[in-house]
Parts: sequence; C-alpha cells; structure tokens
Amino acid sequence: MLRIKSIFWKLLITYILILFVSLFVLAIAYHLLFLNDLINKHRNADRSQLEEAVQYIQKSYNNGWSREIIVSSLELSIANQAKSFYLYDESGTLLYQIGDASFHVNREIVRKALQKKQPTHELSEKVKGQHIFIAASPIKTNAPIEEKAIVMVSSGLEKEFNHIKYLFLLASIISIAITSLFTYYLSKRITAPLREMNRVALQIARGQFDQRVKIKTRDELGKLGETFNYMAQELAGLDQMRKDFVANVSHDLRSPLTSIHGFVRAFLDDTIPGERKRHYYTIMKEQTERMIKLVNDLLDIARIEAGQLEIRPAIFNLSELVRQVVARMEPEFVKKQVNAEVISEKTQDIHVLADPDRIDQVIVNLIQNAVQFSSPDSSVEVILKKQEQVVVSIRDYGPGIRQEDIQFIWDRFYKADRARTKKTGTGLGLSIVRHILDLHQSDIQVESEVGRGTIFTFTLPIAQNKLKKNEKE
Ligand SMILES: Nc1ncnc2c1ncn2[C@@H]1O[C@H](COP(=O)(O)OP(=O)(O)OP(=O)(O)O)[C@@H](O)[C@H]1O
Ligand SMILES: [Mg+2]
Repeated sequence: MLRIKSIFWKLLITYILILFVSLFVLAIAYHLLFLNDLINKHRNADRSQLEEAVQYIQKSYNNGWSREIIVSSLELSIANQAKSFYLYDESGTLLYQIGDASFHVNREIVRKALQKKQPTHELSEKVKGQHIFIAASPIKTNAPIEEKAIVMVSSGLEKEFNHIKYLFLLASIISIAITSLFTYYLSKRITAPLREMNRVALQIARGQFDQRVKIKTRDELGKLGETFNYMAQELAGLDQMRKDFVANVSHDLRSPLTSIHGFVRAFLDDTIPGERKRHYYTIMKEQTERMIKLVNDLLDIARIEAGQLEIRPAIFNLSELVRQVVARMEPEFVKKQVNAEVISEKTQDIHVLADPDRIDQVIVNLIQNAVQFSSPDSSVEVILKKQEQVVVSIRDYGPGIRQEDIQFIWDRFYKADRARTKKTGTGLGLSIVRHILDLHQSDIQVESEVGRGTIFTFTLPIAQNKLKKNEKE
C-alpha cells in the first residue's frame, strides 16, 4: 500500500487509466458509428441480393426452367450466409422456403408486397437481441407460376459485428500490454532522478557533503538536480566554515589560556623572581584582553548571523569621537612606535547621524589594523572630509595588501599573511566592520599598494540639524 504512494506508481496508474479511458471512449464511438455503417451496408447488400433473386426467378421461369433448378440456384446464392428466402403464392400462403427456417415472417409484409406490386417493403428489427433485416418483393413473370412474392430474411449482421468486436478487444489488450510495458519503463525513467536525489540527500544528511547527483536531463528535474548540487556545495562550504570556525576559535582561545595557565603555575610555584612579576602580569593582562576581544567579536558575529545586531543612530560629534579613540589607543601607538595623526579639513567639528558605539568599534578596528601592519616610525592617519557626506579614511604606510587578497579580507577568519598576523588577530575585525557599515547603508572601500600602504574609506551622513545649528553659531 505504501508503494502506491510513490510517484512511480502514481505515474504508472495514471498513464494506464488514461489509456483505458481513451480506449473506452474509442470503443463507444466505434460501436455507435461503426454499427450504423454496418447496418446500412448490410441493408444495401441484402436489398440488391433480393433484387437479383427476383430477377433470377423471373428470368428462369420465362426461360422455362423447373422450380428445382431455381431453388437449388437460390440455395447456392445464400450458402454459408445467415439468410433465407420465403416464397408465397397470390393468396399470401407460404409455398416453400430456402435456407434457415427459424424466422417467423409477418404476413403483413407479404400482403403489402403483393398489393403494391412494385416497390419492395423492407424493415429491420431486433428479434431476440439480434438485428434482423426483412425485405419483400413481388415476382412478375410471363409464365404462369405460383410464386408471386418473395421475402428475404437476413441476420448475419450480429455475427460479423461480434467478430469485429472480438478483434477490437484483442487489439486493445495487445496495445494495453505493450503500452503498459512502455509506461512502466517511462515512469521508471522519469522517477529515476528523484530516487537518485533521495539517495544523495540521505548521504548528505549523514555528513557526506562531497556527494552530488548525476542528472543529465535538461528539464525541470535537471534544473532541480542542479539546484540540489548547488545546495550540496553550499552545505559543504558551510560545513567547512563550521569546522574552520571551531578550529580557529579553539586555537585562538587555547594559546592565551595555555600561556596564562603556565604563568599562573609559575606564580604558584614561586619560580618567578619579584622583578619579573610585573612583566608576566602585563603579558597575562594582554592575553586576557585578547580573549575578551575575541569573545566580544564572536558575540557580534553571532548577533550579525541572527540578524540581531541593531544600530541606534544618534547625532554625535565624529571629530570628538576620533580624538577620543586615538587618545585611548595611545599605548598601542607607543608600543608599536607609530605616529597617529587626525587630519580634518575643517577646523569645525563634524557631526554625523550614526550609532556612536558601533562607529567607535569600526574606527578602533581599522586603526588597530593600521597600527598592527605599520612598521615602526611610520604614521597612521585618520582623515575626515566633509563633502555631501562625511568621508572617513584610515591610512597607514605599512606593507599593503596584495591585489589577489583584497577580495577576501572581509571574510571571517581571513588573514592575508597567516604567518605574520597569527599572533595578533583572528580575522574577524573587518567582517564586523563591514556588517556595521552595511547596517548604516555605507560602503567601505579599500585602496592598497604593496610596499606603500593601505587606506580604508567609508562615508557617514552629515547630521543636518546639527549642521545648521553650528553654522548659525
Ligand atoms: N591596514 C592593513 N594593512 C595590511 N593588511 C591589512 C590591513 N588591514 C587588514 N589587513 C589584512 O586583512 C586581514 C583581515 O583583517 P581583520 O581585521 O579582519 O583581521 P585581523 O586584524 O587579522 O584580526 P582581528 O581584527 O579579528 O583581530 C588581516 O589579517 C590582514 O591580512
Ligand atoms: Mg583587525
């Protein structure tokens, strides 16, 4: 019963049903049209046979032949046919009969044929479910003979019709058998890609993401197969990303934890001399800060993925924010011996409409990158320009990014130079930056020249009312 639920069986049953219905309709049409045609043909044939018989009798008697010869000739003319001749005298009394005697002839027909002298009277009726054709004709001869009327009864129609019905049935059975075989094969072929997809889907569900369906058709199923393979490919990508994610995060958490653990043990064992303690505390502080940043970044990424990262735009003083960020990051500049500069075209402060906390995060991330990739004694510039919008650029004179890497820097966990950046970052910073700016409907661009440096640029909308207020002042 379950099997009938499969598309294969549904298709098969539908095809065969259609075939049955069309054969049924064909049989009915055939029956109606063909039977009528057959009746007409029989009637015409019988009519001319009766005329021939009448002419034959008239001619034979005129030529003076005996009744025996005439009877046997008539017998021959209807041999093997379901027909009989009845011959009557002037008074309508049956003289004799040739052929099958099982029919009862209505006397009225005979009387009418004798009376009218000229046209034959004919009728077809159904006796015991059989089509019977009865025709009567007067006989006129020069010779003085008894036979004055002849009646012909013919009943062969049914037999012929049944024979044709039998042939039709046989042809139908043969065509049903052949078509069923063909349909079976066709249904199997149509459903084969679906079965294949089911098989592969189960394998993918079990984690075999390299499985693909092999469908060569160009129809809807082919398209479905292509989409299916695309889905499998994307799933494989996601799975790889998940694996990389776990590997990256565990690695990035394990290294600082291992070193902190080592230091803590050393402290407990009292193996660190007093003057070195501060140094190790500082390292532990940095390591924990790294972990906090990583965890915060991960939380941000999780929020972005869940679509929960929201921005709360407000009007704020961007120039002031940049100054604060630079001041806050002073220790990092000092540590890397990098010179930080804020360059603003206008002396007036610039106000923008954006989420101050998130823009702070964007600028910190970009400056951190700039510092991280700058060589000592170079400078990092934060440039603010006021055009139709506020254009913010963060520039460094570091090693730059290779052209082939640029498209990937926005990807999570991507680090162009794994060996060098391994210690410092996780590769989440720019991904978060881009998402935050996306939420602000702002695009971020990067220009970079290897050996010369890099400049990241994004825009923010100017706060209109604040602007007017400032201008008035
Ligand atoms: N100013 C830059 N100069 C040269 N390369 C850069 C610069 N900014 C980013 N990159 C390249 O882009 C990669 C991705 O940067 P991203 O900020 O996303 O990650 P990260 O700085 O390595 O780690 P995280 O920011 O998560 O601590 C960097 O690893 C680096 O290869
Ligand atoms: Mg970074």
